[in-house]
Amino acid sequence: MTQQKSLFARWTEALDGLKSQGRFRSLKPPRGLDFTSNDYLGYGNGRLANPECQRGGGDSPTASNGESVSASTHANATPSLALGVRHSTSGIASRLLRGHHPIWDAVESALCDWHNAESCLVMNSGFTANEGLISTVIEPGDWVASDELNHACIAEGLRICRPRKFSFQHNNLAHLEEGLRKEAAQRPAGREMFVITESLFSMDGDRSPLAAIVELAEQYGAHLIVDEAHSTGCFGRGGSGIVDELGLRSRVLATVHTGGKALGVSGAYICGSALLRDYLVNKCRHLIFTTALPPAIGEWWLDMLPKVRADDAGRDALRTNATRFHAMLAERGVPTIGDSYIVPVVLGDDVNAVRVATALQERGYDIRAIRPPSVPQGTARLRISIHADHEPALLDQLADHVAEAIRG
Ligand SMILES: Cc1ncc(COP(=O)(O)O)c(C=O)c1O
Repeated sequence: MTQQKSLFARWTEALDGLKSQGRFRSLKPPRGLDFTSNDYLGYGNGRLANPECQRGGGDSPTASNGESVSASTHANATPSLALGVRHSTSGIASRLLRGHHPIWDAVESALCDWHNAESCLVMNSGFTANEGLISTVIEPGDWVASDELNHACIAEGLRICRPRKFSFQHNNLAHLEEGLRKEAAQRPAGREMFVITESLFSMDGDRSPLAAIVELAEQYGAHLIVDEAHSTGCFGRGGSGIVDELGLRSRVLATVHTGGKALGVSGAYICGSALLRDYLVNKCRHLIFTTALPPAIGEWWLDMLPKVRADDAGRDALRTNATRFHAMLAERGVPTIGDSYIVPVVLGDDVNAVRVATALQERGYDIRAIRPPSVPQGTARLRISIHADHEPALLDQLADHVAEAIRG
């Protein structure tokens, strides 16, 4: 953690500056009658579903001006009963205003417990979590080494904050070290170094050599950000991801997780220190200037988390299916990359990839051709996503059909 010190000093100084101007902000639950949200027609407050809400419902000043605004007395808690959920399907305002429903405190605390992390911050999507985190903590003049296959939202974050960039060859430790060594030898005063990678790559389905990347980052004084979009739920004890599986939590600056993949819920979150969370709450435009996720989604998160933690059987089935499918394809002479449940079959040119995908679609499989710019030029492919509930016989049959389709 020692290399984080100068970055933490940067954040502390910025937050102290805000405090001295009376501008330091924290997330506070709604209180009092609503003259803050953007729920202009009252739909988020259930005006149409529950006529009581037209008169202000249960959100009287006496009921809601205390510290303990509970979900049940919150004006944003009643409306969607008609839809079969307890909470509003609208976020109604930014989390910095009235959009910080107490359910998000509960979700973030459950996430901290899952990851044994100091702090978590829910964001609206993995895209905005990565873009927001990166463009907030990295400043022009800082230096960033980013794996060449990192997701588009990482590239977008870097585009916004305009650091000096070093794109290292995919998972190539020697190339990463070359960049780190050169930068460390000439680093301008006050400038920070960062490394960004994914733990399981979205289009190649291979893992990054995270333990070795952590070692290198520490050796050269760089801060590590890991996108765990595709590993969350599926790796590690209780499914909390690869960083936790490898025991690296205290050695990374931040991890980014999305709910929209294995977790099956909308939204995303960032794990890191409490100081990072304060800094993001005060500075991250992707959090400050957008409407919060609806509290109904928070309810889904709270429902899902204990289930995913307990689902070792699902993770085992997923792993077994993935191993089986890679082996089945290999037996049929079809090479794949990696050994995970993301199974890329690289076919080269776009036309060939589309031809093979179309042949499989005609047989009833929803398998798409992935083409540039989603993958590098000349590496168009099938990206076959294996699930825990795919039947083994279906996987065997699909392996036959993939091989046939490629042969044409
Ligand atoms: C590696 C990676 N990071 C981030 C994201 C964005 O996540 P979300 O879909 O929640 O915006 C994706 C989604 O495709 C991804 O593959």
